[in-house]
Amino acid sequence: MTKKNAEASACAKLILLGEHSAVYGHPAIAVPLPSLRLNVRLKDADSYQVKAPVGPEDAEKIIQSLKVAGQLLDSVRKLEIGISSGFPMKAGLGSSAALNVAIARGLAEMEGIQPATGRIAEIAYEMEKIFHGTPSGIDTTVSAWEKPIYFIKGKPPEFIKPKKPLTIVVAFTGISSSTREVVAEVRAARDAEPEKYDGIFRDIEKVSEQGRKCMETGNLDKLGMLMGQDHQLLRKIKVSSPEIEMLVEAAVKSGALGAKLTGAGRGGCVIALSAPEDARRISDALRMHSGDVFVAKIQ
Ligand code: PMV
Repeated sequence: MTKKNAEASACAKLILLGEHSAVYGHPAIAVPLPSLRLNVRLKDADSYQVKAPVGPEDAEKIIQSLKVAGQLLDSVRKLEIGISSGFPMKAGLGSSAALNVAIARGLAEMEGIQPATGRIAEIAYEMEKIFHGTPSGIDTTVSAWEKPIYFIKGKPPEFIKPKKPLTIVVAFTGISSSTREVVAEVRAARDAEPEKYDGIFRDIEKVSEQGRKCMETGNLDKLGMLMGQDHQLLRKIKVSSPEIEMLVEAAVKSGALGAKLTGAGRGGCVIALSAPEDARRISDALRMHSGDVFVAKIQ
């Protein structure tokens, strides 16, 4: 049965290992944050309208993505959309992916259809291109499935079952960066020095492969070390920033098993893998430098 309106939500995510190299077909690991959700309210309207505290440029992108969702779901409606997010947007936590997944879910409900999760992820990926240009699809995939994934662009995700829960302290630098711009700059740098960059991406691939094994065997000490290695490789492709470095250093000094930037970089969030009993100390240390710190448990 079709409906005149619908509400839907989707979750935030963290990239544990492999961002940026993911764009070039190397594996990466992402985990969902199911308790942090972005909600959309969709309803039929005479023209497309965005009722959310976003600027005109973002409103235009949201309208474009509604149209893409409409095409892919064979829907001819015009929609009004309201958006509320329970986590900071443009902070590297996957708000655009969550928005796109939520829209795909909501519009499917209005059309009275129930696409498989993989189809929702595919639709959201097409919508994500409007926001991010040439995304790998990792964000939309993890948001749609809400499970830890080992992701290779263009392939169905492989799911990771962590042997031990992961305790991750997340700290926002307070700086929003544009994934589209950072990914485009990395692409330009790679075009200029392909051997150097492809070598770094291959090193990141080894880190992601080992990281998956560590999650599956519960070797959190080594996983932390790999996160630190990945961060050094991400520094080499120049996606870190002074604010990120300060948070990574504070996390490591206060006893994190490993810390790194997450997502596109140049701002956004830092993640620190922590022994459960150390999470409070690490959070306190990060609060000296960040106004937005929280602890996530990944099962
Ligand atoms: O949008 P973010 O900050 O979660 O970054 C996405 C991860 C990148 O690897 C940088 C881009 C991509 O599409 O994989």
